[in-house]
Amino acid sequence: MSYPRHRPRRLRTTPALRRLVSETSLEPRHLVLPLFVADGLAEPRPISAMPGVVQHTRESLRRAAAEAVEAGVGGLMLFGIPCDGDKDATGSEGVNPDGILNVALRDLNSDLGDATVLMADTCLDEFTDHGHCGVLDVHGRVDNDATNEQYIKLAVAQAHSGAHVVSPSGMMDGQVAAIRDGLDHAGHSDVAILAYAAKFASAFYGPFREAVGSSLQGDRRTYQQDPGNAREAVREIELDLAEGADMVMVKPAMSYLDVVRAAAEISPVPVAAYQISGEYAMISAAAANGWIDLRSSVLESLVGIRRAGADIVLTYWATDVAGWLR
Ligand code: PBG
Repeated sequence: MSYPRHRPRRLRTTPALRRLVSETSLEPRHLVLPLFVADGLAEPRPISAMPGVVQHTRESLRRAAAEAVEAGVGGLMLFGIPCDGDKDATGSEGVNPDGILNVALRDLNSDLGDATVLMADTCLDEFTDHGHCGVLDVHGRVDNDATNEQYIKLAVAQAHSGAHVVSPSGMMDGQVAAIRDGLDHAGHSDVAILAYAAKFASAFYGPFREAVGSSLQGDRRTYQQDPGNAREAVREIELDLAEGADMVMVKPAMSYLDVVRAAAEISPVPVAAYQISGEYAMISAAAANGWIDLRSSVLESLVGIRRAGADIVLTYWATDVAGWLR
């Protein structure tokens, strides 16, 4: 009698068998492409720690967005970078209908309409001169409730400009409920909220701070989560669900796959995970050195995030991956 009787390898013998029993799918529609658009640029500006990613001009943004949609990606997430001189203490350029993010949303909405899902980062850090995600009180601390008032204005401006989804990423308490009320009162009850529900104070955001020309001194540890806190992440997710989040996000992705799994287990709404700038930078750097293969490493990282339970993955490789998967 042959031994062992149980031979999982039987199902790995041919590519067709492996395909038949493959458990996790990765399709272009699962991917969201984050895009940066900067005010006052004559041409796209490369981001040194994110080779291949740029701050777009309005024109180059339109081309990159059209290319992504053509490739089949599921949605676009827009970040706006104002001129330094337009930053102020309350981030008013984010609310300004003529601010770069709102203008770019109108551009993409007129080009693409409902052919894609247009999402906007609903946060103040790109627009404040101090670089924090909220407004500060007299002691220089981020003022939770005053920040929510500003987030409402930001979300309504983005909805007016054509965003299908607003994405509060500042980790203020009550931000989802505040924005939901604000949108509904402004007649935008169809605009959805993708809540950055469990967002950790991560060193891997480093390249993003260059990408958005952040003015931040210090850190975000009074609002973003301690990287060790998984139970607290579940609480954050439950609160955002109770406040009316239409989708919840975990961020970063690769160092937090257990949190992605926990979110998938409790969430009645779609779960997103954000493969952030530092994750992009790490894989890019290793591949550029010839230490790992770019394409297979990227695909494996994304399948891993999907396997952990993410329905949607935000990745700077979205358009490339959509092309590879054709
Ligand atoms: C906040 C925001 C950040 C990112 C997305 N939204 C930065 C931060 O919290 O410091 C990071 C994205 C990335 O690193 O790719 N508006």
